[in-house]
Amino acid sequence: MKLYNELALWWPLVSSPAEYVEEVAFFLPLLAEITARPSPLLLELGSGGGNNALHMKSSFSMVTLVDLSPQMLEVSQVLNPECEHLPGDMRTVRLKRMFDAVFIHDAIDYMTTIEDLRQAMTTAFVHCIPGGMVLLVPDHVRETFEPMTDHGGEDGEGRSVRFLEWSYDHKETDSTYVTDYVVVLREDNQPVTVEYDQHIIGLFALDEWLSLLRETGFEADYVVDPYERYVFVARKP
Ligand SMILES: C[S@@+](CC[C@H](N)C(=O)[O-])C[C@H]1O[C@@H](n2cnc3c(N)ncnc32)[C@H](O)[C@@H]1O
Repeated sequence: MKLYNELALWWPLVSSPAEYVEEVAFFLPLLAEITARPSPLLLELGSGGGNNALHMKSSFSMVTLVDLSPQMLEVSQVLNPECEHLPGDMRTVRLKRMFDAVFIHDAIDYMTTIEDLRQAMTTAFVHCIPGGMVLLVPDHVRETFEPMTDHGGEDGEGRSVRFLEWSYDHKETDSTYVTDYVVVLREDNQPVTVEYDQHIIGLFALDEWLSLLRETGFEADYVVDPYERYVFVARKP
């Protein structure tokens, strides 16, 4: 995906840290019993540009950030120099350490099969201490998905981004939908360049999420956030 690789340096203008304040204000109270413990440790899988970590890190004594893309880790490193940054795939990474909480935000969207999702949940499980918590935040579950278009982008110093995002379910019988991005980049008032990037996103029913979490070994439930997203709250017994 170009957005997370060759275009990663533009990420803060695609999705700015300020956009995450409200979301984190919803997530942190869900982890209140963890953050109240002495020296709690957080692992985020698929941490991207580190925008969530920026607002979550003061509630933890240490935050470890794992992402598939070295370029996204570099962007996050600038924002979160005090956090540990490690390359890894959330399906297979094994850090041989445990954390009080494991968080997977929208990066869980890139699990496109039940097997992918099961592997990511297993990674969260093996890195979570008994009595610890896991939050998973997919953009949609099958029951709530609707085709949509959106646009955004910001101006930085000498560079600007605008993008169109178009999501649709091309094949209702499988476990994915498509998000097409058209990204327009402008630097130093030069003529714009246009990039196209297609993302294949996983789409699973509420029951599939809950059953898989329970099969993995978690006690699982969900809450609906202010954006009407299903946030899965799992506890390792
Ligand atoms: C939308 S971005 C995350 C943005 C992030 N919420 C933030 O705060 O900036 C999605 C991220 O998921 C990562 N990703 C996709 N598949 C992954 C996988 N299998 N393992 C780890 N990271 C993955 C991508 O590299 C990308 O950085």
